[in-house]
Amino acid sequence: MEADAPILLFDSGVGGLTVLAELRKLLPEAPVIYAADLAGLPYGEKTEAEIAARVAGLLGRMSERFKPRLITIACNTASTIALGMVREVLHVPIVGTVPAIKPAAAMTRTGAIGLLGTAATVRQKYVDDLEREFAQGNRLIRFAGPGLVEAAEAKLRGEAPDPALFASTAAGLRGQPGGEDIDTVVLACTHFPLVEEELRAALGGGVQFVDGAQGIARRIAYLTQGEAFLRKSPDVALVTGSLAEAAPLAAALKRYGLERLESL
Ligand code: DGL
Repeated sequence: MEADAPILLFDSGVGGLTVLAELRKLLPEAPVIYAADLAGLPYGEKTEAEIAARVAGLLGRMSERFKPRLITIACNTASTIALGMVREVLHVPIVGTVPAIKPAAAMTRTGAIGLLGTAATVRQKYVDDLEREFAQGNRLIRFAGPGLVEAAEAKLRGEAPDPALFASTAAGLRGQPGGEDIDTVVLACTHFPLVEEELRAALGGGVQFVDGAQGIARRIAYLTQGEAFLRKSPDVALVTGSLAEAAPLAAALKRYGLERLESL
Protein backbone atom coordinates (compact mmCIF):
# COMPACT_ATOMS: atom_id res chain seq x y z
CA MET A 1 0.00 0.00 0.00
CA GLU A 2 1.51 3.31 -1.14
CA ALA A 3 1.30 6.03 1.53
CA ASP A 4 -0.23 8.43 -0.98
CA ALA A 5 -3.02 5.99 -2.00
CA PRO A 6 -6.21 8.01 -1.48
CA ILE A 7 -9.42 7.33 0.37
CA LEU A 8 -12.22 7.84 -2.15
CA LEU A 9 -15.39 9.40 -0.77
CA PHE A 10 -18.38 9.25 -3.08
CA ASP A 11 -21.80 10.93 -2.99
CA SER A 12 -24.28 12.30 -5.49
CA GLY A 13 -23.42 15.81 -4.30
CA VAL A 14 -22.11 17.72 -1.30
CA GLY A 15 -23.73 15.44 1.33
CA GLY A 16 -20.58 13.34 1.72
CA LEU A 17 -18.76 16.41 3.01
CA THR A 18 -20.47 15.76 6.36
CA VAL A 19 -18.61 12.44 6.42
CA LEU A 20 -15.38 14.06 5.24
CA ALA A 21 -15.54 16.55 8.13
CA GLU A 22 -15.60 13.66 10.64
CA LEU A 23 -12.89 11.78 8.76
CA ARG A 24 -10.57 14.83 8.89
CA LYS A 25 -10.81 14.80 12.69
CA LEU A 26 -9.63 11.19 12.91
CA LEU A 27 -7.23 11.00 9.95
CA PRO A 28 -6.02 14.52 9.16
CA GLU A 29 -3.10 13.24 7.08
CA ALA A 30 -5.15 10.94 4.84
CA PRO A 31 -5.17 11.92 1.16
CA VAL A 32 -8.78 12.14 -0.01
CA ILE A 33 -10.50 12.24 -3.37
CA TYR A 34 -14.05 13.51 -3.02
CA ALA A 35 -16.27 12.55 -5.94
CA ALA A 36 -19.76 13.99 -6.50
CA ASP A 37 -22.07 12.75 -9.23
CA LEU A 38 -23.68 16.15 -9.69
CA ALA A 39 -24.96 15.16 -13.14
CA GLY A 40 -26.91 12.35 -11.45
CA LEU A 41 -28.26 14.36 -8.50
CA PRO A 42 -30.76 13.86 -6.94
CA TYR A 43 -30.38 10.09 -6.57
CA GLY A 44 -33.42 10.04 -4.30
CA GLU A 45 -35.73 10.64 -7.25
CA LYS A 46 -34.21 7.90 -9.43
CA THR A 47 -35.09 4.24 -9.79
CA GLU A 48 -33.09 1.53 -8.07
CA ALA A 49 -31.75 0.31 -11.44
CA GLU A 50 -30.55 3.79 -12.45
CA ILE A 51 -28.81 4.35 -9.11
CA ALA A 52 -27.14 0.94 -9.10
CA ALA A 53 -25.87 1.41 -12.67
CA ARG A 54 -24.49 4.91 -12.04
CA VAL A 55 -22.80 3.99 -8.76
CA ALA A 56 -21.25 0.77 -10.06
CA GLY A 57 -20.09 2.45 -13.29
CA LEU A 58 -18.52 5.47 -11.60
CA LEU A 59 -16.87 3.56 -8.77
CA GLY A 60 -15.49 0.99 -11.20
CA ARG A 61 -13.97 3.71 -13.36
CA MET A 62 -12.53 5.62 -10.43
CA SER A 63 -11.06 2.62 -8.70
CA GLU A 64 -9.13 1.72 -11.87
CA ARG A 65 -7.96 5.29 -12.35
CA PHE A 66 -7.05 6.28 -8.77
CA LYS A 67 -6.32 2.93 -7.08
CA PRO A 68 -7.89 4.02 -3.79
CA ARG A 69 -6.97 2.14 -0.62
CA LEU A 70 -10.62 2.30 0.43
CA ILE A 71 -13.90 3.58 -0.97
CA THR A 72 -16.64 5.14 1.12
CA ILE A 73 -20.11 5.49 -0.34
CA ALA A 74 -21.03 8.57 1.69
CA CYS A 75 -24.66 8.41 0.56
CA ASN A 76 -27.52 6.51 2.18
CA THR A 77 -29.45 6.20 -1.08
CA ALA A 78 -26.56 4.70 -3.02
CA SER A 79 -25.51 2.46 -0.11
CA THR A 80 -28.92 1.00 0.70
CA ILE A 81 -29.37 0.14 -3.00
CA ALA A 82 -25.94 -0.66 -4.43
CA LEU A 83 -23.51 -1.49 -1.61
CA GLY A 84 -23.84 -5.29 -1.82
CA MET A 85 -23.47 -5.34 -5.57
CA VAL A 86 -20.48 -2.97 -5.68
CA ARG A 87 -18.72 -4.97 -2.95
CA GLU A 88 -19.02 -8.07 -5.09
CA VAL A 89 -17.36 -6.55 -8.13
CA LEU A 90 -14.68 -4.23 -6.76
CA HIS A 91 -11.68 -5.60 -4.96
CA VAL A 92 -11.26 -2.63 -2.62
CA PRO A 93 -12.60 -2.32 0.94
CA ILE A 94 -15.90 -0.41 0.73
CA VAL A 95 -17.56 1.37 3.63
CA GLY A 96 -21.24 2.18 3.21
CA THR A 97 -23.66 4.52 4.93
CA VAL A 98 -26.54 3.04 6.86
CA PRO A 99 -29.44 5.03 8.38
CA ALA A 100 -28.61 5.47 12.09
CA ILE A 101 -31.71 3.66 13.36
CA LYS A 102 -29.82 1.63 15.97
CA PRO A 103 -28.36 4.64 17.84
CA ALA A 104 -31.69 6.48 17.52
CA ALA A 105 -33.48 3.59 19.23
CA ALA A 106 -31.01 3.87 22.13
CA MET A 107 -31.54 7.65 22.37
CA THR A 108 -35.33 8.04 22.17
CA ARG A 109 -37.29 8.47 25.39
CA THR A 110 -40.74 8.71 23.85
CA GLY A 111 -40.27 5.72 21.50
CA ALA A 112 -41.21 7.86 18.49
CA ILE A 113 -38.34 8.16 16.01
CA GLY A 114 -38.51 10.23 12.85
CA LEU A 115 -36.55 9.12 9.81
CA LEU A 116 -35.78 11.69 7.16
CA GLY A 117 -34.31 10.30 3.99
CA THR A 118 -34.68 10.53 0.26
CA ALA A 119 -37.70 8.95 -1.43
CA ALA A 120 -35.49 6.12 -2.70
CA THR A 121 -34.02 5.43 0.76
CA VAL A 122 -37.21 5.42 2.81
CA ARG A 123 -38.78 2.73 0.61
CA GLN A 124 -35.82 0.31 0.84
CA LYS A 125 -36.13 -3.15 2.34
CA TYR A 126 -32.74 -2.37 3.89
CA VAL A 127 -34.55 0.19 6.08
CA ASP A 128 -37.35 -2.30 6.87
CA ASP A 129 -34.69 -4.76 8.04
CA LEU A 130 -32.94 -2.15 10.22
CA GLU A 131 -36.30 -1.21 11.73
CA ARG A 132 -37.12 -4.84 12.49
CA GLU A 133 -33.69 -5.54 13.94
CA PHE A 134 -33.05 -2.39 15.96
CA ALA A 135 -36.24 -0.41 16.49
CA GLN A 136 -38.49 -3.09 18.04
CA GLY A 137 -40.92 -1.53 20.47
CA ASN A 138 -40.46 1.93 18.93
CA ARG A 139 -42.43 3.65 16.22
CA LEU A 140 -40.35 4.63 13.15
CA ILE A 141 -42.01 7.48 11.27
CA ARG A 142 -40.52 7.89 7.82
CA PHE A 143 -40.66 10.97 5.63
CA ALA A 144 -38.91 11.79 2.35
CA GLY A 145 -38.49 15.54 2.62
CA PRO A 146 -38.86 16.85 -0.94
CA GLY A 147 -36.41 19.63 -1.77
CA LEU A 148 -34.09 19.10 1.20
CA VAL A 149 -31.22 17.77 -0.89
CA GLU A 150 -31.45 20.74 -3.23
CA ALA A 151 -31.66 23.10 -0.21
CA ALA A 152 -28.44 21.65 1.21
CA GLU A 153 -26.72 22.00 -2.17
CA ALA A 154 -27.96 25.60 -2.46
CA LYS A 155 -26.78 26.44 1.07
CA LEU A 156 -23.26 25.34 0.18
CA ARG A 157 -23.40 27.49 -2.93
CA GLY A 158 -24.04 30.43 -0.60
CA GLU A 159 -27.80 30.75 -1.11
CA ALA A 160 -30.22 31.14 1.82
CA PRO A 161 -32.61 28.18 2.16
CA ASP A 162 -36.39 28.83 2.23
CA PRO A 163 -37.79 28.37 5.79
CA ALA A 164 -41.13 27.16 4.34
CA LEU A 165 -39.39 24.01 3.13
CA PHE A 166 -38.32 23.06 6.65
CA ALA A 167 -41.74 23.87 8.05
CA SER A 168 -43.33 21.47 5.56
CA THR A 169 -40.74 18.81 6.40
CA ALA A 170 -41.56 19.16 10.11
CA ALA A 171 -45.27 18.92 9.26
CA GLY A 172 -44.60 15.79 7.18
CA LEU A 173 -43.15 14.06 10.27
CA ARG A 174 -45.41 15.55 12.94
CA GLY A 175 -48.57 15.00 10.90
CA GLN A 176 -48.26 11.19 10.87
CA PRO A 177 -49.75 9.00 13.60
CA GLY A 178 -47.51 9.36 16.67
CA GLY A 179 -45.59 12.17 15.00
CA GLU A 180 -46.26 14.67 17.77
CA ASP A 181 -44.19 12.45 20.13
CA ILE A 182 -41.05 12.39 17.97
CA ASP A 183 -38.03 13.29 20.11
CA THR A 184 -35.28 11.82 17.89
CA VAL A 185 -34.79 12.22 14.16
CA VAL A 186 -32.48 10.07 12.04
CA LEU A 187 -30.89 12.14 9.29
CA ALA A 188 -30.78 9.28 6.79
CA CYS A 189 -29.29 11.31 3.98
CA THR A 190 -25.78 12.71 4.19
CA HIS A 191 -27.02 16.06 2.86
CA PHE A 192 -29.32 16.67 5.81
CA PRO A 193 -26.77 17.48 8.56
CA LEU A 194 -25.87 20.46 6.35
CA VAL A 195 -29.35 21.88 7.10
CA GLU A 196 -29.64 20.55 10.66
CA GLU A 197 -29.88 24.05 12.11
CA GLU A 198 -32.90 24.84 9.89
CA LEU A 199 -34.53 21.48 10.68
CA ARG A 200 -34.01 22.07 14.41
CA ALA A 201 -35.68 25.46 14.17
CA ALA A 202 -38.66 23.91 12.38
CA LEU A 203 -39.02 20.83 14.62
CA GLY A 204 -38.41 22.52 17.94
CA GLY A 205 -35.48 22.47 20.37
CA GLY A 206 -36.52 19.26 22.15
CA VAL A 207 -35.67 17.07 19.16
CA GLN A 208 -32.27 15.37 18.94
CA PHE A 209 -30.70 14.47 15.61
CA VAL A 210 -28.53 11.49 14.78
CA ASP A 211 -26.60 10.69 11.62
CA GLY A 212 -24.00 8.17 10.56
CA ALA A 213 -21.02 10.42 9.84
CA GLN A 214 -18.99 9.77 13.01
CA GLY A 215 -19.57 6.04 12.83
CA ILE A 216 -18.43 5.93 9.20
CA ALA A 217 -15.27 7.90 10.03
CA ARG A 218 -14.50 5.49 12.88
CA ARG A 219 -15.01 2.52 10.55
CA ILE A 220 -12.61 4.00 7.97
CA ALA A 221 -10.00 4.65 10.70
CA TYR A 222 -10.41 1.08 11.93
CA LEU A 223 -10.03 -0.45 8.47
CA THR A 224 -6.91 1.61 7.70
CA GLN A 225 -5.30 1.12 11.11
CA GLY A 226 -1.50 0.92 10.92
CA GLU A 227 -1.39 2.23 7.32
CA ALA A 228 0.91 5.14 6.44
CA PHE A 229 -0.63 8.31 4.98
CA LEU A 230 1.14 10.91 2.88
CA ARG A 231 -0.65 13.75 1.10
CA LYS A 232 1.62 14.60 -1.83
CA SER A 233 -0.68 17.21 -3.38
CA PRO A 234 -3.76 19.08 -2.15
CA ASP A 235 -6.94 17.02 -1.97
CA VAL A 236 -9.27 17.25 -4.93
CA ALA A 237 -13.02 17.28 -5.57
CA LEU A 238 -14.17 15.62 -8.79
CA VAL A 239 -17.60 16.23 -10.26
CA THR A 240 -19.62 14.81 -13.11
CA GLY A 241 -21.40 17.29 -15.35
CA SER A 242 -20.49 20.88 -15.97
CA LEU A 243 -17.50 22.28 -14.10
CA ALA A 244 -18.90 25.79 -14.57
CA GLU A 245 -22.12 24.80 -12.77
CA ALA A 246 -20.10 23.31 -9.91
CA ALA A 247 -17.83 26.37 -9.60
CA PRO A 248 -20.06 28.13 -6.98
CA LEU A 249 -19.30 25.18 -4.65
CA ALA A 250 -15.55 25.82 -4.76
CA ALA A 251 -15.46 28.04 -1.65
CA ALA A 252 -17.38 25.48 0.45
CA LEU A 253 -15.20 22.64 -0.86
CA LYS A 254 -12.10 24.58 0.21
CA ARG A 255 -13.49 24.83 3.75
CA TYR A 256 -13.40 21.02 3.77
CA GLY A 257 -9.80 20.99 2.54
CA LEU A 258 -10.63 20.23 -1.11
CA GLU A 259 -8.38 22.73 -2.81
CA ARG A 260 -9.01 21.75 -6.42
CA LEU A 261 -12.22 21.19 -8.37
CA GLU A 262 -11.96 19.03 -11.49
CA SER A 263 -14.13 17.08 -13.91
CA LEU A 264 -14.57 13.39 -13.38
N1 DGL B 1 -26.70 12.28 -0.08
C1 DGL B 1 -27.56 11.25 -0.54
C2 DGL B 1 -28.00 10.33 0.59
O1 DGL B 1 -27.35 10.22 1.60
C3 DGL B 1 -28.76 11.59 -1.37
C4 DGL B 1 -28.84 12.79 -2.18
C5 DGL B 1 -29.60 12.59 -3.49
O2 DGL B 1 -30.84 12.44 -3.49
O3 DGL B 1 -28.91 12.59 -4.51
O4 DGL B 1 -29.00 9.65 0.49
